[in-house]
Amino acid sequence: MMTRRQAQAGMLAGVALAAPASVALAQPAAPVPLPPARGEGGQPLTAALKLRRSTRAYSERPLPAQVLSDLLWAAFGVNRPSGDRTAPYWRHVMVMDIYVATADGVWLYEPKTHALLPYMKDDIRAATGLQDFVATAPLNLVYVAHGERMTDVFAEDRNLYACVDTGFIGQNVYLFCASEGLATVFRGSVDGAKLAATMKLPDQQFVTFAQTVGYPRS
Ligand SMILES: Cc1cc2nc3c(=O)[nH]c(=O)nc-3n(C[C@H](O)[C@H](O)[C@H](O)COP(=O)(O)O)c2cc1C
Repeated sequence: MMTRRQAQAGMLAGVALAAPASVALAQPAAPVPLPPARGEGGQPLTAALKLRRSTRAYSERPLPAQVLSDLLWAAFGVNRPSGDRTAPYWRHVMVMDIYVATADGVWLYEPKTHALLPYMKDDIRAATGLQDFVATAPLNLVYVAHGERMTDVFAEDRNLYACVDTGFIGQNVYLFCASEGLATVFRGSVDGAKLAATMKLPDQQFVTFAQTVGYPRS
């Protein structure tokens, strides 16, 4: 018999994240739990390193919920009882958020509960970059920094440290994708201010980079 969590995970896969699409930003729906990340398997690190590359041609096929779960865990999930993450981060201060932009809306990844929080119902994929493929690839990760959490540093250093944090996450995503036969590209070619406005981010939050993930176009 399926648990409630498994049933929700199945629903999530079946509708390709469409369930809370009717939810507006001002009226957030309940978090959608991801299936538990497998946290095992995949190719040996050296094999993944050999396969790592950037790809700019994507199939429109959506990612199954289990793959999305494993991807987000690899990116910046909790990997220890302390709550720390698969990527290192500046001064032990958590400043990075990962938003998941799909055809069915935008979701905020919540690592502590390994869930997706519905954020916007709009398809903003085209706004996540200046290259054509971003509009049709199934998934764009948008890396957003909380500048307000970076106290005791000069404003210019906030961007530096946030970008380094993002780079570690981005490399986790690269290696996971290489291991799983997925395509990805880390992208700085983003109009960050415009994207922040589209996403209605608070003033102190800013976009560092974006990263497209999907299946390679055959
Ligand atoms: C900081 C940074 C920004 C990047 N921005 C873009 C980008 O906007 N668009 C893009 O297609 N590739 C982008 N890339 C990917 C690089 O072009 C790519 O890693 C490089 O050409 C080497 O190719 P490879 O990743 O296949 O080894 C970026 C990479 C980094 C590290």
